[in-house]
Amino acid sequence: MDLRIKALKKHYESKSVLDINQLHISKGTFLGIIGPNGAGKSTLVKILSNVEDATSGEILYNGGGFSNELSKDMTLVFQKPYLLRTTVYNNIAYPLQLRKLDQAEIDNRVISMMKTMEIMELKDQKAWTLSGGEAQKVALARALIFRPSLLILDEFTANIDPSSMVLLENTIKQFHEGYRPTIIMVTHNIQQAKRLCSHVAFMINGKIVEYGEMNEVIFNSQNTDTQKFISGEILI
Ligand SMILES: Nc1ncnc2c1ncn2[C@@H]1O[C@H](COP(=O)(O)OP(=O)(O)OP(=O)(O)O)[C@@H](O)[C@H]1O
Ligand SMILES: [Mg+2]
Repeated sequence: MDLRIKALKKHYESKSVLDINQLHISKGTFLGIIGPNGAGKSTLVKILSNVEDATSGEILYNGGGFSNELSKDMTLVFQKPYLLRTTVYNNIAYPLQLRKLDQAEIDNRVISMMKTMEIMELKDQKAWTLSGGEAQKVALARALIFRPSLLILDEFTANIDPSSMVLLENTIKQFHEGYRPTIIMVTHNIQQAKRLCSHVAFMINGKIVEYGEMNEVIFNSQNTDTQKFISGEILI
């Protein structure tokens, strides 16, 4: 999916939390969004996903406005995963049931996804009994299962242990290589962004202070705030 943002603003009462003049995310881009707490990253991805309204401005999806049809082709994995009050299997199968795939195809895809993500043993467990990391894996599986053209991830590895992180990163990488969706990923982890993303946007105080191809921004940043952020992260 191709995205164009124009003069996008979000205010909470008198406080401005988002102010993006323009941004073009072309089809197939894997964009990392990096920035300090409160920079407006989650606000931006919620607005892009139509979960929240902007105060003003415009977003074009493949050149047009948001529609029901589009909403079936995109998804957001929230910073705090939200699951349905049912089993893990049913959570992952749900997007395919909505799209009326036949039961055999649903079963094949869900089982294969659970194997890939190493969560087969959670198949019949109730979603509300999962640990934080397990819930994040299920939320990601549910997002990938219907192969969206726009996948938006908000800190999807926040509660994930290092070995599961490699697994989840590889799963997403393979999804991107296989289906060439547009992916927008909010992360605090610059190393993770370097491993996965083709492009990166640095956000500070609601604004995108730098945007470009990953290597160009990381190795040849033109912005002093971005430079400080990059060197601070790498020192950790
Ligand atoms: N409903 C709300 N009412 C008032 N202020 C809000 C509301 N939602 C978000 N904010 C403010 O908007 C700003 C941006 O929040 P946002 O969640 O987008 O930040 P973020 O970049 O995702 O941060 P983090 O890295 O901590 O997740 C913050 O200062 C937050 O307090
Ligand atoms: Mg956030």
